[in-house]
Order: sequence, then C-alpha cells, then structure tokens
Amino acid sequence: MNRVHIKTYGCQMNERDSESVAAGLRARGYAVVDSEADADIVLLNTCSVRDQAEQKAIGKAWELGREDARRAKPRRMLGILGCMAQNRGADLLDRLPDLDLIVGTQKIHRVPDFLDALIAQNRALGPKPATLIDLDAEAGSQNAIRDHGPDRKISAFVSVMQGCDMKCAYCIVPKTRGAERARPMGDIVREVESLAASGTREVTLLGQIVNRYGAREFPVVDGKSPFVQLLERIHAIPGIARIRYTSPHPVAFRDDLAAAHRDLEKLCPQINLPLQAGSDRVLRAMNRAYTVDGYRRIVRKLREARPDLWISSDIIVGFPGETDEDFGQTRAMFEEVGFDMAYVFKYSVRSGTPAEPEGDPVPESVKEERNRVLLELLEKQSLRRHRELVGTDQEILVEGRARKGEGMLEGRTPGGRKTHFAGPERLVGELVRVRITGATVTALSGEVVVAE
Ligand code: SAH
Ligand code: SF4
Ligand code: F3S
Repeated sequence: MNRVHIKTYGCQMNERDSESVAAGLRARGYAVVDSEADADIVLLNTCSVRDQAEQKAIGKAWELGREDARRAKPRRMLGILGCMAQNRGADLLDRLPDLDLIVGTQKIHRVPDFLDALIAQNRALGPKPATLIDLDAEAGSQNAIRDHGPDRKISAFVSVMQGCDMKCAYCIVPKTRGAERARPMGDIVREVESLAASGTREVTLLGQIVNRYGAREFPVVDGKSPFVQLLERIHAIPGIARIRYTSPHPVAFRDDLAAAHRDLEKLCPQINLPLQAGSDRVLRAMNRAYTVDGYRRIVRKLREARPDLWISSDIIVGFPGETDEDFGQTRAMFEEVGFDMAYVFKYSVRSGTPAEPEGDPVPESVKEERNRVLLELLEKQSLRRHRELVGTDQEILVEGRARKGEGMLEGRTPGGRKTHFAGPERLVGELVRVRITGATVTALSGEVVVAE
C-alpha cells in the first residue's frame, strides 16, 4: 500500500510543489511511480486558474473512481492537493464523495504525514476513514518547498516565495496561494548549492511575482533589490551555468534588473513578461497598474541590456468589456514587441475575484477568434526568429535524451528554445556548441560542432 502516483496540473510552482512532495514521500519509504495504473495512492496536484483546469482534474478524479469500481479491485486512495483543494475544499465531496484527502496549498508538505495516518486507520480495519481535509494557513510554509529527489536534474526549479498580494481583477491565485511570503536568501542559496553539488547546471527561480522577491522582508542594498541580490548570489555558485526566472511583473520591474541582464552572464537572455492586454483601458479594468507605454519602456531597457533577448508573454483575450478596438491594440502590441513565445488564454470567470460580478459578456466565439488571431501571429513570429538561427552556432545545455529518435539528445539555447541533435549520452549536463540546421515553430535541430 505504498506506491504513489502524483499528477500535476497548472503552473511551474505546482510542478515544483509536486517534486517536493515526492521527495518527502520517498524519504518516508513510499515508492513514487510513473503510472496511475501501478499506484495504490493517486494524488492530483490541481490548478484553479481557469475553469478548464479545474474540470480536467475533476474529470480525472471521477474517472479513477469509476475505473476502480469497474475492475472491482480494492479502491485506490485518492487525494486532491493544491489550488483547487484550497479553492473548493469540502465542496469537492459533492462531486467526489470518495476522496480520501483534500490538502490546501500551505499544507502540501504535510502529505506524507496525512498518508501515514490514513494508512494506519485503514489497517485498523474499521469503517473507511473520513476524508482528511486540511486547508489551513501555516506560517513559514513557503520554507517547506525545498527538497529534491535523488536523481540528477540538469535543470531544476527553485521556489523562492509563495503567494501574491496583487488584486488583478481576473485572478484567483491570491485566494488559492495566500499572501506573498519570501524564503530567506541563505536557504535558497543553500538549496541551489546542493543542487549544483548533485549535478544541476541550470536553475529557474519561481514566484508569482518573482521580481518582487523579498521586497517586504529585505532591504535594498547599493540600489539593488532583494531579487537582484539573490540573482548575484546564485550567479556566484560554481557549477551553475544558467539562471532563469519566472514570472516577473511589469509593476515591480526596476533598472537594477535590466542591469543584471547586462552584467550577469549566467542570467539567460530570456524573459516571460506578462502583458495581459495591449489596451490601457483594459489594463486598468484588470487592475494591472502599468500602461502599454510603461511596458514598452521595460522591453526597450531589457533589449538595450541584452540585444539577444527572447521575450514571451501571457495574454488574456475576452476580458469583460474588451472591445474590437481594445483587442486591435493588443494585437498591435503583440506584433510590435514581436513575442517569440506566448501563452494566450481565453478569459474564464473565477469565483471570488474582483471581476466576478461583471460576468462573462464577451461571447465564446469572439474569444475563440481573438485567440486564433494571436496564435497565428505567434506561429509566424516564432518561426521567423527560429529561422534566423539557422546557420549559426548556439551554446546548448544538454538536458537528456530526446524523447524521439535513436541517439538523439535534447537541450536548450540560452534563449530557452528546445534543440535536438545527435550525440553520445556522456554530453548530458554539458554545454556544447551546436550548428543550427533546422527550425520549426516550436523547436530547432542541429549538429554538434566538433572543435578543430
Ligand atoms: N503571477 C503571474 C501569473 C500567474 S497565472 C503574473 O502575474 O504574471 C498565469 C496566467 O494565467 C496569467 O498571467 C494570466 O494570463 C492567466 N490567467 C489568470 N487568471 C485567468 C483567468 N481568470 N482567465 C484566463 N486567464 C487567466
Ligand atoms: Fe494573479 Fe495578478 Fe498575482 Fe499574477 S500578479 S498571480 S495575475 S493576482
Ligand atoms: Fe494554477 Fe495555482 Fe499555479 S491556480 S496557475 S496552480 S498558482
């Protein structure tokens, strides 16, 4: 009764939480298995950011229950963790009455304890234990997401903070993740040092507004924000070759971060800077406290600091009140900045958010069309930028074997573009020069350049 499968929905912070839970489970003697079919316990680490994300996890939980009934096998234990657990709590039992476990975002590190307790109760052969529910806030929970598994990870996520204090009108994250709380810098540095010692070459620092890291807790020193101080300390760690971070917020963007992109060579020329909308009127309605022009200025500064910067964004189409003219401005901005990558989302009403009372007045067909227009632009823009790399040599950090193709390896350019090429396994974890010979919308291909 100790094989656990964790399925993760949502953002990179959730992925990182799942890794940390898996490490905690292994330390307690559980086996973490890749397939739900092999598992005695299935945990769904869920997302609430859009209705679709919630529906997917609920559908999965429902299907698992039905499958167990059909096969008449002893029921797997099933737990819902993370943002949807926090958002819906015990209401989940209306649709999923057989859930064993519902654990909110600040208690996720307690999952091994909860499973131990449930298993002990099951062994007692009494009636099926009641659903264990814990959605409480816990002081210091941001410090609990720090353990990694025993396997070498060439590229690792590191959560540097939890929560968000903004009130973006559409967003449920402040409700699911709680107030903004930073981890101490020394703890993060130690985590990255120990990752480096186990062979990690690249770290991606994670936070809801990662460039606000420690803004409340730690002082500005020599004109440098706590986030830039943290970047500098990680930059000094031997073995770490590349640093990325996601996602920064335009309102917290200062010149010291642009300067860091110029001065810190390990800081990759890549940024995901959410724009959300290209119309000042919509930005105001969204409660995003910057203007399109302010955003433009940040992009200009970043490009001055790193002319080879790759820039991506998050965009929402169909926010209440978004007119054709507003959308036209978003589209124009999309082309002007020339995003190389973007995550385009159709607006989804979330309960308890400031925009909820406005409902969902933009018709689905209009959202669909706006979504299509941006994705079409994106394909053009990514392909154009990828093609510019054909014929150049790029430094690739080799992350592992490619999923497809005998003898193929996979890695990323400094700008974060996935690249495939043939090579021996021993190159994994190395920085190699690759001549780019092919480009698609989503990836590059090439050949290792052999030094003469
Ligand atoms: N903290 C990050 C975003 C986290 S949520 C930031 O502020 O940049 C990831 C993305 O989901 C957001 O950037 C937004 O584009 C999208 N999103 C959030 N709420 C949404 C909603 N209600 N409907 C559609 N997309 C949404
Ligand atoms: Fe949500 Fe806004 Fe916070 Fe990002 S900054 S998590 S969009 S409330
Ligand atoms: Fe989703 Fe929670 Fe991340 S709502 S986007 S999993 S913070």
